[in-house]
Amino acid sequence: MSEKKPPRSGFSRRGFLTSVGVTSGALTTGILTSGTPALAETSPKVSGPGPTPVTLTINGKPYKLNIEPRTTLCDALRNHLDFTAAKRVCDRGTCGACTVIIDGKAVYGCDVLAIDAQGRKIETLEGISTPEHPHPVSKAFVHNDAQQCGYCTPGFVVASKAFLDHHPNPTYEDVKHGLGGNLCRCGTYMGVRKAVLEAAKELHGGTHA
Ligand code: FES
Ligand code: FES
Repeated sequence: MSEKKPPRSGFSRRGFLTSVGVTSGALTTGILTSGTPALAETSPKVSGPGPTPVTLTINGKPYKLNIEPRTTLCDALRNHLDFTAAKRVCDRGTCGACTVIIDGKAVYGCDVLAIDAQGRKIETLEGISTPEHPHPVSKAFVHNDAQQCGYCTPGFVVASKAFLDHHPNPTYEDVKHGLGGNLCRCGTYMGVRKAVLEAAKELHGGTHA
């Protein structure tokens, strides 16, 4: 029996950016449009502009920090907590080098304010794959020579892990489309796609090459 193909719109670059945009917009709305009836009733709390206490749950552990509300999740991870796998490259939601997983979905860490990530389950590459226990996606990246300079690689691995969680048996075209939100300046796309298909086989018995 042929497997039902997942809808492509489930993880497209456009969908990725749209969801991020909606999130950012909603958050912005919470601060700036308190005059709307629904939000006026809740009187949103104003934080900052100086350092304010923030607690983030990262890879299953709580971390307390004192940061300006304008701090992005990517900067909070890298500059305040020493989680440096997510890279700050474009810092404008374009390249995917800063990809982390929030509540099961891949997001651009530079497009989310750390203060707004409170109460959410944040996963970074450090929690997904370690040198002692490499994730099957990491192993497949090595096996398929899916990195050159490696700067985009952590973001690709995290995005691939999230992609496979939702698409256990993707085709090559599904992978190409699903990882369209991550860019590689060295052009490792072929290796990355082969690696994701290989990882799908190991993780979920994927049947496509
Ligand atoms: S650094 Fe976040 S998308 Fe490029
Ligand atoms: S391996 Fe160099 S940017 Fe992707």
